[in-house]
Amino acid sequence: MAKPVSITFTEVETSTIADVEGRVAIIVDPEGRLDVAARRINRLTKGALARLIEAKAEKAAPAEAHVIAYPVGMAAEALDVVFLSRRASAIEARKAGVALGRVRSGADLLLCAGGHRKAHEIALGVALRDYAFDDHMSEDAKTGGSVRVMVSKPEDVAGDAEPALAVAEGVFFTRDLVNEPANVLTTTEFAKRLKDMETLGLEVEVLEENQLQELGMGALLSVGEGSDSPSKVVVMQWKGGDKDAAPLALVGKGVVFDTGGISLKPAVGMEDMTMDMGGAGVVAGVMRAIALRKAKANVVGLVGLVENMPSGRATRPGDVVTSMKGDTIEVINTDAEGRLVLCDVLQYAQDRFAPSGLIDLATLTGAVIIGLGHENAGVFSNDTKFCNAFLKAAEHEGEGAWRLPLGKAYADQLKSRIADVKNTGGRPGGSITAAEFLHRFVGEGMPWIHLDIAGVASVKSDTVYAPKGATGWGVMALNRLIADGYESE
Ligand code: BES
Ligand code: MN
Ligand code: ZN
Repeated sequence: MAKPVSITFTEVETSTIADVEGRVAIIVDPEGRLDVAARRINRLTKGALARLIEAKAEKAAPAEAHVIAYPVGMAAEALDVVFLSRRASAIEARKAGVALGRVRSGADLLLCAGGHRKAHEIALGVALRDYAFDDHMSEDAKTGGSVRVMVSKPEDVAGDAEPALAVAEGVFFTRDLVNEPANVLTTTEFAKRLKDMETLGLEVEVLEENQLQELGMGALLSVGEGSDSPSKVVVMQWKGGDKDAAPLALVGKGVVFDTGGISLKPAVGMEDMTMDMGGAGVVAGVMRAIALRKAKANVVGLVGLVENMPSGRATRPGDVVTSMKGDTIEVINTDAEGRLVLCDVLQYAQDRFAPSGLIDLATLTGAVIIGLGHENAGVFSNDTKFCNAFLKAAEHEGEGAWRLPLGKAYADQLKSRIADVKNTGGRPGGSITAAEFLHRFVGEGMPWIHLDIAGVASVKSDTVYAPKGATGWGVMALNRLIADGYESE
């Protein structure tokens, strides 16, 4: 598993800077005076730093590292200069760190952050961007090394950085799961990786097919019928809050590969459907993050793990299946499988845990990519207060999220001639009809948010926080929602 680079915090000690190998980075306030480390570096480099500031400070982009290679007077292979105001926001500070993470390439890094108030956010940025999925490369990508941050109050900054770096580890866990090919990350392997999180203090149960059958999860089971990999539901409980406080429930779509089933997808781009477990991946990453930082909240994460394959045993278009709730569903298109998985897990989550709120995440529709592109996840909710709390958390963390409507007219598109509901509502408003399908399985008065992450879970070009591929979108926003709204103290 890819782990974030190890980061330590030490006191400012300018006498050693000249001899440090690897890279040295310095944070400079574009309007402010040079701090002691900057003055030292400027002297060592015979004024190169001051000249760079003179030339670049005014027009400097916030998340840009100016690299001076093999600086005179220093043993380092590079001096990275990032401009960041003393009054920078958390996100700006994180982006400054990102710029450094991007150029580090496995070298040891000494980061001189002086008295910057957001030094822990800079450290988080370095960690988040410094990710590579190289498990299947014969030669390792350029990762490794370590990061030392020189700050005026190392203990304080280390204390602030600890929970932030726990979240980075959660993000990396999600990215690894989402990047993993489907022949490696089978339903069984996925369940095993979740079960392994018991060592972190999570309670993890794996429900097998016979148990799902007994529970009546006919919709979920219909999706995995054509696959040799057994369908599973994994329940992860973190009990960090008051003993009898109802938990927040997170539910994730975990389709380890989506061929479309008998409604087979076209060949071009089908390989991308290894990421169709992205919702489950985010739920897993959040559970890991809150366990690592020992959040004082009760949270339960539930994921439905299935593989959608065509075969002689696979569900056909036109088949009618019965959900755990009891509603019958006409399967018009076997490629609209995510909602079939989620409806049963949503039902189970509510029946068993009576949660205080319910959030599901899924790479549910291509339509959300047409609507919002790769910048924002689609957000649907029956509860504006709950929804706004999430939107605020997402904005705070720099993760794009945009609310879209629900409505009876959309739900009506799902009326079936022969069953209670059908699983597709045609092309118009495809993401909304999918959300309305799920809405039907949300109990009266249950605050609920549905996040359609098809456009943001994995992308073809670098994002602010991640190299191309899996992003881990949502782990930070949900962690923030939990930290701000669910933790006792
Ligand atoms: N997993 C896909 C949605 C998807 C598409 C995720 C592109 C990521 C990138 C989902 O199961 C699906 O196939 N949805 C269909 C629904 C349709 C058949 C109603 C879609 O969006 O085309
Ligand atoms: Mn599908
Ligand atoms: Zn799918």
